[in-house]
Amino acid sequence: MTKDLTQLEILTELQPVAEQNLNRHLSLAREWHPHDYIPWDEGRNFAALGGQDWAPEQSKLSEVAKVAMITNLLTEDNLPSYHREIAENFSQDGAWGTWVGRWTAEENRHGIAIRDYLVVTRGVDPVALEQARMIHMTNGVSAPDNWGGFLESVTYVTFQELATRVSHRNTGKVCDDPIADRMLQRIAADENLHMIFYRNMCGAGIDLAPDQAMMAITKILTHFIMPGAGMPNFRRNGVLMAKHGIYDLRQHLEDVVAPVLKHWNIFERNDFGPRGEQAREELGVFIEKLEQDVLKFEEQRDRMFAREAAKAALQPA
Ligand SMILES: [Fe+2]
Ligand SMILES: [Fe+2]
Repeated sequence: MTKDLTQLEILTELQPVAEQNLNRHLSLAREWHPHDYIPWDEGRNFAALGGQDWAPEQSKLSEVAKVAMITNLLTEDNLPSYHREIAENFSQDGAWGTWVGRWTAEENRHGIAIRDYLVVTRGVDPVALEQARMIHMTNGVSAPDNWGGFLESVTYVTFQELATRVSHRNTGKVCDDPIADRMLQRIAADENLHMIFYRNMCGAGIDLAPDQAMMAITKILTHFIMPGAGMPNFRRNGVLMAKHGIYDLRQHLEDVVAPVLKHWNIFERNDFGPRGEQAREELGVFIEKLEQDVLKFEEQRDRMFAREAAKAALQPA
């Protein structure tokens, strides 16, 4: 059995790949400004400055759009927790350090844009939003088991970035406002570039230490939870978002998990030893189960919609 590489060995070996991908990212990332995406002329003072406080009828967003916006924003708000995890698992030196700083600044921009939009348009209750932010950030990252070193971290963020991309894109669609849609498309484009950086780093990690990387991938995917876990009403809101196709199990499997595994060539590789083979097999079983769960979830969802339609038909017009 070959000896496992240490964290330091992995980081040192992958340093040139990090530099290459950092440069790639910087050449592709377009500068943009949150203020360009906010309809400031819709804004007005709240009661503390002589205006009117928020009331539910001021919001033009549907219930599901509100929940999706809040979930996405709280996830962005929780950035310090993610920064800490990544900073601890990556190096502070050279390209690694530059990437972590740059990534943090880009993520922060997402939270700025979404919050400005929601407060100016009175899309959600700003007091409840602030209370939820306090709770969520105090809790921090709620899935410490997901992080066990560089390979685990880089696997998790690859899938997380892609998942947030899907979630932002679909949230833009349900907001029913071209301004929100444009802003969330812009943010989703950033998430995609982040995903590519992490996916390339993880891909290089698989080539460097196939067994260690494969075990990390299986560990992360079989325990995957969305980054919003730990925020108030996460379960209830997650169910609502899944019900309305903002982020559901089929999207998780087909738009997030499968394309990345395919990109890494996981099921065709022949560079695994016994530990890697075993982890790959375990992942294969897990994916088959996920496929079954997708069907089960969709049947349940169809039944739920049918029940709601039947109930609505009984209501007096
Ligand atoms: Fe983000
Ligand atoms: Fe991101």
